[in-house]
Amino acid sequence: MTQVVQYSRRGAVGVILVENPPVNALSQAVRQGLLDALRQGLEDDGARALVLAGGGRTFIAGADIAEFGRPLAPPDLNDVIAAFEGAAKPVVAAIHGTALGGGLEVALGCHYRVAVAKAMVGLPEVKLGILPGAGGTQRLPRLVGAHVALTMITSGEFVPAPKAHELGILDAIVEGDPVDGAVRFAEALDLAGPYPRVRDRAERIAADRGSAVFDEKRRALEKTARGLFAPQRCVDAVQAAAELPFEEGLKRERELFGQCMAHPQSAALIHVFFAERAIGKIPDVPADTPARPVATAAVLGAGTMGGGIAMNFANAGIPVTLLETSQEALDRGLATIARNYAGTVAKGRLTQAEMDRRLSLITPTLDMAALAGADMVVEAVFEDMAVKQDVFRRLDTVAKPGAVLATNTSTLDIDAIAAVTSRPADVIGMHFFSPANVMKLLEVVRGSATARDVIATAMQTGRKIGKVSVLVGNCDGFVGNRMLMPYSRQAELLVEEGAWPEQVDKALQDWGMAMGPFAMGDLAGVDVTWRIRQRRLAEGKAAGSPLTDRLYLMDRYGQKTGAGWFRYEAGSRTPLPDDVVKRMIENHRETHQIQPRAISDEEIVKRMIYALVNEGAKALEEGMALRASDIDVIYLYGYGFPAWRGGPMHYADSVGLPTVLADIRDFQQRFGGDWTPAPLLERLAAEGSSFAAHDRRR
Ligand code: NAI
Repeated sequence: MTQVVQYSRRGAVGVILVENPPVNALSQAVRQGLLDALRQGLEDDGARALVLAGGGRTFIAGADIAEFGRPLAPPDLNDVIAAFEGAAKPVVAAIHGTALGGGLEVALGCHYRVAVAKAMVGLPEVKLGILPGAGGTQRLPRLVGAHVALTMITSGEFVPAPKAHELGILDAIVEGDPVDGAVRFAEALDLAGPYPRVRDRAERIAADRGSAVFDEKRRALEKTARGLFAPQRCVDAVQAAAELPFEEGLKRERELFGQCMAHPQSAALIHVFFAERAIGKIPDVPADTPARPVATAAVLGAGTMGGGIAMNFANAGIPVTLLETSQEALDRGLATIARNYAGTVAKGRLTQAEMDRRLSLITPTLDMAALAGADMVVEAVFEDMAVKQDVFRRLDTVAKPGAVLATNTSTLDIDAIAAVTSRPADVIGMHFFSPANVMKLLEVVRGSATARDVIATAMQTGRKIGKVSVLVGNCDGFVGNRMLMPYSRQAELLVEEGAWPEQVDKALQDWGMAMGPFAMGDLAGVDVTWRIRQRRLAEGKAAGSPLTDRLYLMDRYGQKTGAGWFRYEAGSRTPLPDDVVKRMIENHRETHQIQPRAISDEEIVKRMIYALVNEGAKALEEGMALRASDIDVIYLYGYGFPAWRGGPMHYADSVGLPTVLADIRDFQQRFGGDWTPAPLLERLAAEGSSFAAHDRRR
């Protein structure tokens, strides 16, 4: 086995180098190696001081996530850090890349910390539903005070080295090679001990004892981290640093760490961490599949979606040609783009110069021939098969050979669009979400003829323009919207049966969804839902409730008309319950002789979420999604599903599939055909298995 931690000497300074690519994670071998190398350094009479550094592109970037969820083999990281902190020679941490989580905790155990200016430090554990469990919550506040420590630990955000230096986390910024810099720093040290230990730094944190800062943070987190368990425990831990002696504080940190680890939220967030990393794995499109270069792009249609899609390319520095059918539509689209950028500039998140540069990358045109040079074309014209086929027929005659021809359709058949071209292998779906310049999700829709390198290109370009790309199959609604249909259907049925839209929305929001289904319907547009309903009715498919028709006939299209399922005051996006809608619903109930009943929030949540799970299981079994975890990623990034519940499929696993199935069977008896259980769900439940296990078997 290769040595993952090496000891060597530079003059009078011993260098401990962690070599555990790619990110020098703190595996058991690294923890043991650190202890062994430290002993070597202490025994080396030629070394008067020690430097701890990471080989390759980074310092220690954190815990070894592969070891998560298993009992950790010794040595414990706390013991490793205590050994460094108690060392009889001064130890200098030399930071480059990132010192995160356990990596920063190790550095905090060193007597000094130096870093190159480009390095970052942080304690991101909270993002995985846990807290720093190796003294981070006790040592960091001793350096920076409770206020800054609370911000860093509850947000998990990274701090650039110059800022960390200013805050007192780092002792110096070094130029050039980090190890050279740290060796120079060590050589200049006064070598007479005792060496400064962060644990002894009492003055700063003592000032925070009894401070209101802790309760204030708890209250703030109730809003900004609604429903989350770990951020509140982070506050408890930092408060312990202020109020308890160091060793007792460490003990309290360990208790709180254990509580977080045992909480279902950490399992969910760790699931999400792995799910996000799995989306790029496509069995027949391996990672080394050569993608086609995309140096230039074109977008057809400068409406709601086209404008946002063009911005994505410009934001990534890719020149993009934007095609419309009339000067008026083009001007309108460009004005919206300019307004969007100006808003970002006004918020101070973009410079005027950068805005101008991005705008200059967007070339408007009315001439289809101007698309001839584009490596990738994304079509975002009206959702109408005849219009799209006409566009693709013409595109086929002008696009250069090898160009990727993508459609942003949200419901139409990719194969039927591809079929009108002479090159169906180059046609693919790239389904963006609205607003396209903001929403992170991209469903890449594979047609039956789509070439593998076209899939690789779409996935890679999606990532390049800042999207989370998930590959899905070609079916009605693809994966996300397909699952949304039965979900929305339940919302409408619940209202027909006796709930009010505001109750349904509140129940789901309280459960953790970013938005309720009716507010979401108003955002997407009741007219859009109505159009999809008409098409599905014509195709003889389940098509939702006639309540949508009533709203449509009243011109209540949602936010865009100031009224839909809710009403909106001028300039406001806050949904307000509307008596007009209540009367409409009551009238519908009377017409259909529905006796309204009181419906519990629990029933609302179960019917809505299990509708997602059941349809998700069907899509999974049909191969429309590669993994249950891909479906989770789609829901987290496209539909405001709470990450701390892990996504619908993980949530079902956490409840237990037999329990979910029993409820679905009960719904089937009470409410009928929509609730036919997915065969995959039945099979997994019978086996005592889970969606996660199903993913692992694939
Ligand atoms: P929109 O109606 O806002 O924009 C469509 C634009 O295409 C219009 O400006 C129109 O002038 C232009 N156009 C029509 N025919 C054209 C042609 N032959 N050449 C060039 N431009 C042409 O529609 P929206 O909402 O932007 O939708 C576009 C596509 O994106 C549709 O396929 C839709 O299903 C899909 N989509 C929409 C989402 C949404 O939330 N609005 C979400 C995801 C996908």
